[in-house]
Amino acid sequence: MIQRLEELKQNALRELDAIKELPALEQWRIRYLGRKSELTGMLRGLADLPMEERKTTGALANRIKGELESVFEHKNSVLKADSHQQVIRTDDALAALGDITLPGRPYPAGRLHPITETLHEICDIFGSMGFQIVESNDVELDYYNFGALNIPPEHPSRDDMSTFWIDYENDRGERPMLLRTHTTCVSARVVETMKPPIRVIEPGHVFRYEATNATHLSMFNQIDGLAVDKGITMADLKGVFYEFARRLYGEDRRVRFRCDYFPFVEPGVEVAVECALCHGSGCRLCGSSGWIEIAGAGMTHPKVLERGGIDPNEYTSFAFGIGVDRIPMLRYGIDDIRLFSGSDLRFLKQF
Ligand code: DAH
Repeated sequence: MIQRLEELKQNALRELDAIKELPALEQWRIRYLGRKSELTGMLRGLADLPMEERKTTGALANRIKGELESVFEHKNSVLKADSHQQVIRTDDALAALGDITLPGRPYPAGRLHPITETLHEICDIFGSMGFQIVESNDVELDYYNFGALNIPPEHPSRDDMSTFWIDYENDRGERPMLLRTHTTCVSARVVETMKPPIRVIEPGHVFRYEATNATHLSMFNQIDGLAVDKGITMADLKGVFYEFARRLYGEDRRVRFRCDYFPFVEPGVEVAVECALCHGSGCRLCGSSGWIEIAGAGMTHPKVLERGGIDPNEYTSFAFGIGVDRIPMLRYGIDDIRLFSGSDLRFLKQF
């Protein structure tokens, strides 16, 4: 038993030496000095020993217990002082930072691209007039981009839209496919999938195979719109555009409708607003005409409705297509459309 007590002491001291943290020290205390520890058990068992042995072993066991208790106390105070030191060191580090109650330094926050902002603004205006936003894919079937919109393969208006054809087949095995040349193709899908009354706007990227210059990019943005209901007339189209122009450009901006041709509307119109710079007298911005064209529009061709499964004798419809990129160009006097996609922060930070 005496030998076991000595072993116990050696083990305890060796382990104590390696302890660096208070929780480990507490474990050590429980293991060597706790109620269920071997040492406590041995002290309890002394009563069963013969008198002589009880004296010597008891004295040794009590001495070892006292020794372990005092090394524990010592180590405990050392580790406690250490952790206190650490707190003080953290305080020093904080103090070195200066006044930490001051507000933080602002991070440079990004902002919306002027075109995204314009898209949001237009969507908000039409949204408040009851139009719902519909989006579709950039890659489109020839049928929806042309055929369904009354532009058969031999039609000359296809030549206006130099096209990126794609050697690709969709998951239903359909082809040919292309990068849509206008968002009007979304309307061709909407008449197939939605039931009147319909009021939708369709924002999105469109693509044309064109040489890039200050006024042309091969990718730009459009928003098409479509309203289908009983009794819709050209007056509804004009009313919607007057309201749109008033909200986007200001109360007293005049709007002009002139005849134009698009295969998917009959009659078709070109919509222009009075030039913001010269108010109609003619300047460099409006090419001396006094007007700036913002959209194509018209009464949806009966064949387009029919192809989508809507009876043109029961329902009528108006449609429009707005060129989005020109709006911030005119608003901020930007003279080169390429700046929008140039990622030059000096340009983008101005808005
Ligand atoms: N899709 C035509 C274009 O890109 C614009 C257009 C004209 C859209 C008349 C329409 C419309 O919905 O009714 O040039």
